[in-house]
Amino acid sequence: MIQWWYGHNAVGFFLTAGFLGMMYYFIPKQAERPVFSYRLSIVHFWALIFTYMWAGPHHLHYTALPDWAQSLGMVFSLILLAPSWGGMINGIMTLSGAWHKLRNDPILKFLIVSLSFYGMSTFEGPMMSIKTVNSLSHYTDWTVGHVHSGALGWVGLVSMGSIYYLLPRLSGKKEMWSTRLIEWHFWVATIGIVLYIAAMWIAGVMQGLMWRAVNADGTLTYTFVESVKATFPYYVIRLAGGGLYLAGMLIMAYNTFKTVSGSQLVDTRIPAMTGAHA
Ligand code: HEM
Ligand code: HEM
Repeated sequence: MIQWWYGHNAVGFFLTAGFLGMMYYFIPKQAERPVFSYRLSIVHFWALIFTYMWAGPHHLHYTALPDWAQSLGMVFSLILLAPSWGGMINGIMTLSGAWHKLRNDPILKFLIVSLSFYGMSTFEGPMMSIKTVNSLSHYTDWTVGHVHSGALGWVGLVSMGSIYYLLPRLSGKKEMWSTRLIEWHFWVATIGIVLYIAAMWIAGVMQGLMWRAVNADGTLTYTFVESVKATFPYYVIRLAGGGLYLAGMLIMAYNTFKTVSGSQLVDTRIPAMTGAHA
């Protein structure tokens, strides 16, 4: 219980809070619009801080942990959906009146699609914390799919969008060397994530069903090894998804190298980073 108090706070604060900070800074900057609601952002912050603390037991369903503690963890995990989605909506509504910018601004695409993945994984998480759902999903690749829709979709994409915003400013250039390559990176990474998580969802549900299948005489229908063999094709799909995601990072590295080493004009927007124009 103590380990998962820290474990779940790692998810809530390592993989969420800092990236929400980036979201609240870089989406308004890139969209050139004020945050939709400052009041909601404060409520969002305190509600997350308060609620995440209690959700750790959803990692310990059907263990030796007292049953009431498991149920309490489940209830707080369900409550967690509300502040998470409040924050997602706050970020997305910041684009009000600027939706057209999404069409040809791939940096904004990174930032907004990352929020969609945030919404998706914070919907999936509460569902998986329901004990009857968890009895199927636990130990399977469904969990791994959930992890990476958060890790690759939310944490990864919001970081890339933010870094693309920062790079020209930090290196004194007007903009990234190639906007088209940012667009390529966006699509390659997004398709990679979708392959990864869809493969893990199917593999996870399949594993869960195979492990619980019993014959009329009460013996198990499948051996564990049979479930591993059945999972193999999905691991190949994950490999392809991971390969695409990695390819996106190589595109970014190339674009970064060209931007930093290029001979574009020095950009006067740099003082904005000090907050002078914030
Ligand atoms: C409302 C928000 C969320 C809830 C209620 C939630 C709930 C859950 C549940 C029920 C599990 C499965 C536990 C198990 O069966 O072992 C899980 C696993 C996990 N989740 Fe979430 N999740 C949420 C959001 C996120 C986000 C946004 C991320 C990442 C950015 C994330 C990362 C993880 C990780 C890394 C694990 C696997 C832990 C492990 O066993 O190693 N979660 N989560
Ligand atoms: C190309 C990108 C990536 C690939 C192909 C990948 C692949 C994997 C694999 C194969 C596992 C082991 C799953 C298992 O136990 O069966 C794993 C676990 C994990 N990865 Fe990734 N990963 C990637 C990127 C990331 C990133 C960027 C993060 C964090 C921001 C991350 C966070 C995690 C976590 C927390 C676990 C433990 C999950 C658990 O306990 O269920 N991964 N990853």
